[in-house]
Amino acid sequence: MGVSENPDSAVVFDGRAGEPEPGGARSPVSLSDDAVVLRHWSSSDAVFMAEAWRDPAIERYNGPAPASLLDAITVIERIEQSWRTFEVEGDPTGAAFAIVDADLGQPVGMCGVDQWSSTHVAQFGYWLAPGARGRGLATCAATLMTGWLFELGAARVFLTIESENAASAAVALRAGFTCEGTLRAHGVWNGQRKDVDVYAVLPHEWPLGGNR
Ligand SMILES: CC(C)(COP(=O)(O)OP(=O)(O)OC[C@H]1O[C@@H](n2cnc3c(N)ncnc32)[C@H](O)[C@@H]1OP(=O)(O)O)[C@@H](O)C(=O)NCCC(=O)NCCS
Repeated sequence: MGVSENPDSAVVFDGRAGEPEPGGARSPVSLSDDAVVLRHWSSSDAVFMAEAWRDPAIERYNGPAPASLLDAITVIERIEQSWRTFEVEGDPTGAAFAIVDADLGQPVGMCGVDQWSSTHVAQFGYWLAPGARGRGLATCAATLMTGWLFELGAARVFLTIESENAASAAVALRAGFTCEGTLRAHGVWNGQRKDVDVYAVLPHEWPLGGNR
């Protein structure tokens, strides 16, 4: 299992993508740059997950928070099950990283694969705890995730972002995504229909290079 490093950006894909180990399994995936480490969740992150996710913006844009510490542990176990499926089958659907502040060594958010389709189109999402915002950490995480998905062979990577979510749209644009259009009345929040924008990037547009 190789380590591929881009000296210009100090981005490291560690035990990441394509080739399984000779025995068939892949190593746990960890991605990093100067600002963040993306690593697997552990049960010791459950308190962080349960508390951070109660932020109203995260609940609005990423779905309901785990209702209790036990529920957060269940979410983490489900994510780990998705990683096991990825290790055996290569499909990262449901696999999610904890975003860790590289300076503090503490989890600050989440970045996970919503879906990997049969035509190798990948969708992912992210959130940051309120105290970790405003420092570019989500942009770093989205950039690392996108690079990893291209390493895996994604033909297209996309995000769906509610049109009112300016902070997330800014992350997508900073990470190199293009807004392709609006799915009108595609989402529902508090009983109201909301427009949703689609942001995508293709391998040949990706500045760090991907499978072309
Ligand atoms: C979406 C979300 C992750 C964006 O967080 P964020 O902190 O604004 O995004 P980043 O971490 O990339 O930080 C960007 C900010 O840091 C600043 N910044 C500082 N240093 C930076 C750097 N090195 N690189 C990029 N931005 C930097 C940017 O100028 C920007 O500030 P601004 O908002 O004042 O313009 C966060 O708002 C969130 O979790 N929201 C709730 C859940 C959500 O919306 N999830 C997305 C669902 S689609």
